[in-house]
Amino acid sequence: MEINPTNITLRQFKTTDVDDFILWAGDEQVTKHLVTWKTITSKEEALTFIKDVCLPHPWRRSICIDDRSIGMISIYPGSGDDRCRAHVGYAVSRVHWNKGIASRALKMGMNQVVEDYPELVRLQTLVSVENKASQRVLEKCGFLKEGCLRKYSYVKGQIKDVFIYGILSTEFPSVDQ
Ligand SMILES: CC(C)(COP(=O)(O)OP(=O)(O)OC[C@H]1O[C@@H](n2cnc3c(N)ncnc32)[C@H](O)[C@@H]1OP(=O)(O)O)[C@@H](O)C(=O)NCCC(=O)NCCS
Repeated sequence: MEINPTNITLRQFKTTDVDDFILWAGDEQVTKHLVTWKTITSKEEALTFIKDVCLPHPWRRSICIDDRSIGMISIYPGSGDDRCRAHVGYAVSRVHWNKGIASRALKMGMNQVVEDYPELVRLQTLVSVENKASQRVLEKCGFLKEGCLRKYSYVKGQIKDVFIYGILSTEFPSVDQ
């Protein structure tokens, strides 16, 4: 399917997303780099995940084309002394990889989340050293690779070296940059 990235919208998840959600959240190639996501294996699990995890999340949005869910972006703001920063995550359905969707959705999310959390001045994320596509997304969105954290954590049972990427709100690109 041809996708025009300018048709992307971000919105809250809905329980009616369940059939579209399972198409990408049920794909191990999509979930294998997502630390807190296990691969969804049934419609019931998908519905429970949307209700219990996606909807209560402080800032998780469904990436949509024609209002149908093809991925997600999560921005989790810290609290207390960490309220200046938030942790970013994202995923896109495999059939839509390499069409500029994650990069555009992330730029949209960055610009929206600071409206909701005005104290945010920094976004950051950790990326497995081998996840080149995700590193490219972050670079296209202006994030700086700030360092490598060796043997940092387990991801799906394997201990990983990760890069830490960060960006300050003064450095955010506009959506069309
Ligand atoms: C990472 C992910 C979200 C990217 O989504 P996407 O919509 O394909 O991203 P974009 O099209 O905006 O950008 C991908 C870029 O990576 C590049 N890329 C893809 N695979 C690559 C590889 N193996 N090596 C180097 N670059 C690669 C693409 O060419 C593109 O760059 P370009 O626009 O300069 O050509 C998607 O691959 C995904 O869902 N992966 C699984 C979940 C995940 O890893 N999430 C991030 C956790 S930190």
